[in-house]
Amino acid sequence: MADANIFPALIAHCKEYGYIFPSSEIYDGLSAVYDYGQNGSQLKKNIRDYWWKSMTQFNENIVGIDAAIFMHPITWKASGHVDSFSDPMIDNKDSNKRYRVDHLIEGFAEELRDKGGEGDKEKADEIISSMEKLIAADDFEGLKKLIEDNKIKCAISKTCNWTDIRQFNLMFSTEMGSVAEEANTIYLRPETAQGIFVNFLNVQKTGRMKIPFGIAQTGKAFRNEIVARQFIFRMREFEQMEMQFFVRPGTQMEWYNYWKAERLKWHESIGIPAEKLKFHDHVKLAHYADAAVDIEFEFPFGWKELEGIHSRTDYDLSRHQQFSKKKLQYFDNDLKEDGKPYGNYIPYVVETSVGLDRLVLAILSIAYQEEKWNKEDGTEDSRVVLKIPAKLAPVKLAILPLIKKDGLPEIAKQVMSDCKQSFQCFYEEKDAIGKRYRRMDAIGTPFCVTIDHQTKEDNMVTIRYRDTMAQERIALSDVRKIVSKKVEE
Ligand code: GAP
Repeated sequence: MADANIFPALIAHCKEYGYIFPSSEIYDGLSAVYDYGQNGSQLKKNIRDYWWKSMTQFNENIVGIDAAIFMHPITWKASGHVDSFSDPMIDNKDSNKRYRVDHLIEGFAEELRDKGGEGDKEKADEIISSMEKLIAADDFEGLKKLIEDNKIKCAISKTCNWTDIRQFNLMFSTEMGSVAEEANTIYLRPETAQGIFVNFLNVQKTGRMKIPFGIAQTGKAFRNEIVARQFIFRMREFEQMEMQFFVRPGTQMEWYNYWKAERLKWHESIGIPAEKLKFHDHVKLAHYADAAVDIEFEFPFGWKELEGIHSRTDYDLSRHQQFSKKKLQYFDNDLKEDGKPYGNYIPYVVETSVGLDRLVLAILSIAYQEEKWNKEDGTEDSRVVLKIPAKLAPVKLAILPLIKKDGLPEIAKQVMSDCKQSFQCFYEEKDAIGKRYRRMDAIGTPFCVTIDHQTKEDNMVTIRYRDTMAQERIALSDVRKIVSKKVEE
């Protein structure tokens, strides 16, 4: 079960321990924009690196690129984003607050469910199912009626005084060029995928890629989300990790099912428990898709989309071929059953698209734990710990001399210089050892080694494990080997 109560505590923890700060906080922040601190940026990098490795190293037929954020403006006309990348919005006339229609209705249904009265859950399900049908049919009048019939109120004015529903484009635009009159409107990319499509032939030809093959990319995307909420779940500037897999027409459903299964396994491989993941088929397909599914994760505020897997047909490449007037075709030399070559065609595409920030939030929300236990003397003890899988943890090893003198810091610094070539280490000599352990628990450091007076006699140190708090003595010379092995497990 999702535990909404831990969410505010998790947000506060992320700020206190250098994971995530509100953007430009000294100016009171910027709505739905966040900065990653020293630990958050390292966690994010570790997840990104693991995804990159999983895609481009574990798959021989997938390569990576890094396309620019700015693209020729026609890209977005061709992709359909200028005309169709919009959400239905409604404004409350009394507060002037704008809502995304689906969020407004979902919020109401959630509140109804939480009430737990007789028939409330059934009513909430009925409202969501009607909403999904109306959205799929682009029936804005029907959606407004649904809002009015259920007396859904604005959270600020508490009234039901609504405007008609209108579409609102989510792309940010800016101008390129130094002279205002000559400047071209360009867009900040709302998805990284188009950088892959426009480079399809460049990569295919220079890499001598044979279908089926994939192109992977990570990078920033920007959306003018109207209702930006739930911390880093829905942001205006975020990072995507996308892979477009180019396949022979007619084989797309086979590959779609393949990537559905692969991606689910991947999430489990980074430590997300299977029971916190599920598929959710799209009712309304995006303008480019013939099949689409979300991998949902049970966030503290409920089940929400973590990754999208879309069968994008030949829509994007066909549109770019049409708008650029450049052939974006592949010559398939392989022979069909009748002995004739497949010849020239525009490949079909299966896309996997995951939000890096949502993955960070998923990992942190599983990792965050408040623990309490009774000590031997009967008093209570407690700690807040981030049980981040060791391979993703920002700092792998804390090196702690028991006290700041008697030659212990010198030995600790030797361990530091030996280990820092292999993984991220953190050295600390201030405060009592128990306090330092708690701080490392809160940051999510999986291993600590303590150098004490005994070390000088026997060359052994104490290694402490974050998750169990168990301690054991190991040889000083084995620290690097043991920690490296555990990080790779
Ligand atoms: N290229 C396909 C595409 O962009 P999408 O479902 O709109 O599809 C893919 O986005 C993923 O990007 C989502 O599953 C989500 O993880 C992430 N994402 C989308 N909008 C986001 C936002 N405003 N803030 C954070 N992550 C977002």
